[in-house]
Amino acid sequence: MKIYKEKYGPWALVTGASTGIGKAIAYELASHGLNIVAVARRQPLLNELQQKLTNKYGIEVRIICADLASAESTQLLEQMTQALEIGLIVPNAGVGMTGKFIDSNIEDNNQLLHLNMQSPIDIFPK
Ligand SMILES: NC(=O)c1ccc[n+]([C@@H]2O[C@H](COP(=O)([O-])OP(=O)(O)OC[C@H]3O[C@@H](n4cnc5c(N)ncnc54)[C@H](OP(=O)(O)O)[C@@H]3O)[C@@H](O)[C@H]2O)c1
Repeated sequence: MKIYKEKYGPWALVTGASTGIGKAIAYELASHGLNIVAVARRQPLLNELQQKLTNKYGIEVRIICADLASAESTQLLEQMTQALEIGLIVPNAGVGMTGKFIDSNIEDNNQLLHLNMQSPIDIFPK
């Protein structure tokens, strides 16, 4: 896929960038020269990503440690991104749930709903 820095840049925000698909997307976007805002909970993994992307592609990387299953994360993201011109958002962070629904608890279900459904909406600028 062709990603144009002029169209989507200068900043892209990727949630769930610490591992897996989100990390791969962060690498791909950085390889096209976009600066990255990387969001996830695990700071050491985000620090490592920041260092590697900066060294390899000479771009800027901001990291935000946030639990997107919690409503408070919305305000933190707003505060930390308001000065940045973000042209591309990849709301990738998410989890699945296995097992019987009847055995699950309401708190876990509410967190899953917030992470998978509410946070992708909340991270878009108002
Ligand atoms: N892999 C598949 O086959 C597949 C299939 C269908 C859908 N998906 C969806 O695709 C997305 C990525 O999948 P993946 O396989 O790359 O998953 P993964 O390796 O488990 O990565 C999930 C990412 O989301 C972050 N994350 C999880 N909970 C979070 C929270 N509460 N707050 C902030 N960040 C959180 C994790 O970082 P931290 O733990 O550091 O926070 C991690 O960076 C997910 O939404 C998944 O549901 C994947």
